[in-house]
Amino acid sequence: MKILHLISSPRGEASFSVKLGRAIVSELQSAHPDHTLITHDLTATPFPHLEEAHITSFFTPEEKRTPELVEAVKHSDEAIAELMNADAVVIDAPMYNFGIPSTLKTWIDHIARAGKTFKYDGKTPEGLVTNKKVYLAISSGGVYSEGFMKAYDFTESYLRAVLGFMGMTDIKAFRVEGVKVPGMQETALDKAIQAIEL
Ligand SMILES: Cc1cc2nc3c(=O)[nH]c(=O)nc-3n(C[C@H](O)[C@H](O)[C@H](O)COP(=O)(O)O)c2cc1C
Repeated sequence: MKILHLISSPRGEASFSVKLGRAIVSELQSAHPDHTLITHDLTATPFPHLEEAHITSFFTPEEKRTPELVEAVKHSDEAIAELMNADAVVIDAPMYNFGIPSTLKTWIDHIARAGKTFKYDGKTPEGLVTNKKVYLAISSGGVYSEGFMKAYDFTESYLRAVLGFMGMTDIKAFRVEGVKVPGMQETALDKAIQAIEL
């Protein structure tokens, strides 16, 4: 099994999403002794925000790209190749302002490409990134899996929507939540790790 692990918290060893993501990776490794693992810290080597050259390059046929446009599409092509090659993708996603961090969003902006990761067949979109298992490791200060704040959760719902659109529909989400809530924070990580089911 080829595992791709994406980190989007800049908090290193203190990060709850990274700890949960690592626990998922570790279970995958135990279940598949023949695994390989690629880890990308999207905060250490961030993808650039999309600029004009990136977008122009995405929509220019390969043989017509100038050297500048060839350079502009390199990150995206590499990220897509890496994703296509993976069997399992573990995505660590801290909740920032009810959504995902911009470092993770820029990665998504580089992998969501018409003709590469999705296509429109007539009017129906078709995801081209198939046969992947995706595991989300979501961390949040409050509780969003139930209760009145559930409506404010745009981490899991967004990731399920955008990854599903690209064909990644086999998604399991695990949450370490309430890390800022006294009485919950002490046990939040252990509870999340115990809930992991591949
Ligand atoms: C910029 C920023 C925005 C945040 N926004 C929210 C939020 O909207 N809701 C929430 O419950 N927690 C929020 N938090 C708390 C984090 O989700 C929480 O600390 C989480 O553990 C961060 O992930 P990490 O431990 O992997 O770094 C925010 C934290 C930061 C730094």
